This record gives sequence, C-alpha cells and structure tokens, in this order.
Amino acid sequence: MSIKVIRCENYAEMSRAAASIVAKVMIEKKNAVLGLATGSTPVGMYGELAEMNRIGVLDFSDVTTVNLDEYYPISPDNDQSYRYFMNENLFDHVNIDKSRTYVPDGTAADPDDACRRYEEILDSVGQVDIQVLGIGQNGHIGFNEPAESLEVLTHVTGLTASTIKANARFFASEADVPTKALTMGMGTILRAKKIIIMANGAAKRDAVAVMLKGGLTTSCPASLLNLHPDVTLICDPAALGE
Ligand code: PGA
Repeated sequence: MSIKVIRCENYAEMSRAAASIVAKVMIEKKNAVLGLATGSTPVGMYGELAEMNRIGVLDFSDVTTVNLDEYYPISPDNDQSYRYFMNENLFDHVNIDKSRTYVPDGTAADPDDACRRYEEILDSVGQVDIQVLGIGQNGHIGFNEPAESLEVLTHVTGLTASTIKANARFFASEADVPTKALTMGMGTILRAKKIIIMANGAAKRDAVAVMLKGGLTTSCPASLLNLHPDVTLICDPAALGE
C-alpha cells in the first residue's frame, strides 16, 4: 500500500495526468465530492478540468467541492483568499452550483466555531471521493505545518515563518501575509476515499523524499499519507531529485 508515483516529464503533463484521474472519478460518479487544494501547483490541472467542461466531456452540475484550507482572517473578495482563487481558477469557468462549493470561513467572528461548522459540513456532504493535494517545501499538507504534534480535525493554526515566506510572493509584502489559517486536519484529509498529491520543482524534492521513504513523522506532515491505502503522487523529475 505504498504511495504510487506517476512521473511526468513536465508541468503540462502533470496537469493533464492529475485532471484525467479527477475526471475519471467524476465520470464514474456524477455527484462526486471533490476535495480541492489551492497554491500554484494545481492551477494547470484546474485549467484542464475547465477545458473538459467547456467541450462537454465533464459535467460539474451535481458535484460538491470542499477545500482544504483558508487564510484567517480574510474576506472572500480579497484576491489572495482561497475562495477567490477557486472562483478564478475553476468555479467561474465550469457549470458548478457555487452553493455546493465549500471553503473554510475566513470571515467568521469565532474561528474555532468556523472549524467546528466546517467539520459538520464535511460530515453532511459525505466521504470525499478524491482529494487533491499539493505539498509544502517543508512537507506541509493544507496548513498542517511540521510540529511536534499534529491535529486530527479542522482547526485554527499559525503559519510557520517558512510558509509565510513562501507565500509572500502572492502578496504586496511579507507583512501582508495573514499569520493564521483554518485548515482540515490530517485526520480529516485521510478520510478521503482516494488522494492525489502533486509536486513539481526541486524545492519540493526534500519533502517528497521524506514522504516516499514510507515512514511517519510529524516533522513532515505529508509522511502521514503513508497511512492511507490509495495515494498517488504526480510529479516532475525535479521533485524526485533527478
Ligand atoms: P504551491 O504550494 O503549490 O504554491 O507550491 C503547495 C503547498 O503549499 O501546499
């Protein structure tokens, strides 16, 4: 039950490979629940899915989506919010019912309560059929950052200095990066029926190597994916250290 690896020559091939796995799940189950991720890695995959929808081979009308995480606090109108990202990169381009697209609530007055409500939403939509993941340079999954202990369920978390630095490229300055986030926990993520994790570029090499070693360590949250029976890594040669 080790992690399967699909080695792609480049980013475009990776995006197509990931999209075709997601599409297969959606074609087999019209009302699939998709677990989605943000970040630069899945952008190409979302483009492929939107194109399949445009040409009529993929239907989103009965699909439900749940996203991994959201900055806190942040408004959905902020162009750096993950809600905004999902609209821009996927939801505005496909025939999805936006009332069935869920992202943790970055505007909630009480963030702990928002996390509890998110777990209730996840319970109500049922098991995620396929969860798409990226991987942080530090091995984080969603905003489950390396730590002595990890959380099971959706929770409020502080971002590590390394993640704030890595994400500063999207903001006017490092000081503008929110310092907190709401994120599914590792237990939440591991409940999905099937998981794909995408990685490209040499910056991901060390985290990918720890994950593929097959052990478990909270210093690389991605390594916990070794607990799941159906995980596929879709990556380029650089992420494999070639
Ligand atoms: P990236 O982020 O896709 O922008 O590299 C991945 C992640 O932090 O999970």
